Formats: sequence, structure tokens, C-alpha cells
Amino acid sequence: MTKIEKAKLLKLLYQYRSFGFKYFKEYKPANMINQKISSNLAAMSDKVSNCHLCSISNSRKNVVFGEGNENASLMFIGEAPGANEDEVGRPFVGKAGMLLVKIIENVLNLKREDVYIANVLKCRPPNNRVPTLEEVTSCKPYLLEQISIIKPKIIVALGSTSYHHLTGDYDMPISKIRGEVLEFADAKLIPTFHPSFLLRNPSAKKEVFSDMLKVKKLL
Ligand code: URA
Repeated sequence: MTKIEKAKLLKLLYQYRSFGFKYFKEYKPANMINQKISSNLAAMSDKVSNCHLCSISNSRKNVVFGEGNENASLMFIGEAPGANEDEVGRPFVGKAGMLLVKIIENVLNLKREDVYIANVLKCRPPNNRVPTLEEVTSCKPYLLEQISIIKPKIIVALGSTSYHHLTGDYDMPISKIRGEVLEFADAKLIPTFHPSFLLRNPSAKKEVFSDMLKVKKLL
């Protein structure tokens, strides 16, 4: 590790400590349950709105913390906010969001407000590029904390970026793992295709439909 990398890591660790972490192990979400940043989502959202742990905080218009039912049994996790989400500070409000809401309403027979919707990153990467590992490393503790507060029964990972960064299973193609029921942080994790992928590949909707029927059964 270079001196600059060490200094960056040290800075990150000091910042985690300022949020209340005593010890942090990557990709071991179950170990984080007793290391809360905050006891509720509102307090957490306040803290995250001032986050500058990574450089994309400089280009964001709004932090997109996540929204929905704090006691939701079902949580959807996307990749990162896009331009629409950055503009208004809410997740999945663009075209992909409209499709997600259709899925929630028409397949799961739920309302958007019944579930909780968040992303791996809370800020928009410039030009909607894929999140870097450094950005995910900075931001993921927030997501894990949200999960530990909400305690959903089922988490749906939307797309490969979400699945890969949640689990660390980077070599697994989403097309192979989608629809599987996995264990994650006291919840069932079901990966499926991202709604943006469905907009480009409508023929994949039938797979998502079948994944959502599985979710419905398990709720
Ligand atoms: N895509 C995502 O992954 N998240 C959003 O909030 C919007 C689009």
C-alpha cells in the first residue's frame, strides 16, 4: 500500500469512528448489527446528508438517502442515483423508477410506500458511471446500517452492481444468480434484473415477474 493509500484509509477509519463504529469488517453485515451509526433512519439521514467521505459528494445536488416504510418487510436496493434522483433527493423517480413501481403494484400488489427503496451509493456518480470500489467502501456502511434498522424479511438486489457489492460475489453474473433465494443479514436476498436493464431488454421482464412471484410467496 502506498503512503497516499494509507493516509486515505486512515482518514476513512477516523470518519467511520466519528459515526460511532468501533470496529468494521467488510462484507460481514451480521457483525455490524451492534455497531449502529444511529438508532433510526431520520437521525441517520441527517448525518448522511453532510457526508463527504468520497469525491462524488462534490458533484451531487442532493444525497439520495432512501425512502419508504421504516418497518418494511421488503427492501429494494439499486445501484446509485441517476440525474432525476440527484435532482430531487429521492430514489427511483425516473423511468426505471416508474417501472419499479409498476412491478411493486402490479405483481406484488403493494404500494411504493409499503416497501423501502435505497441504493448502494447515496450520491450520483458523474455521468451515471458505475460506482468505484472506493465509493462503495465509503458508502456501504450506511446501507448496512439502514438494513439493520429496517430489518427487512426480504431484500431484492436490483442488478449486478447491487448484488456484487452487497455480497462481494463479484464473479457471479446476475443472469446466473437472479431468482435464487440467498441468506443475507438475517434476511432473504433475492437478486433480479435492474429495471433499467428491463427498459432496454423488455423480453427479460418474464424472469423478473417470476422472481417477484417468489418474493410474494416469501413475504
Ligand atoms: N437506478 C438506480 O439504481 N437507482 C436509482 O435510484 C435510480 C436508478
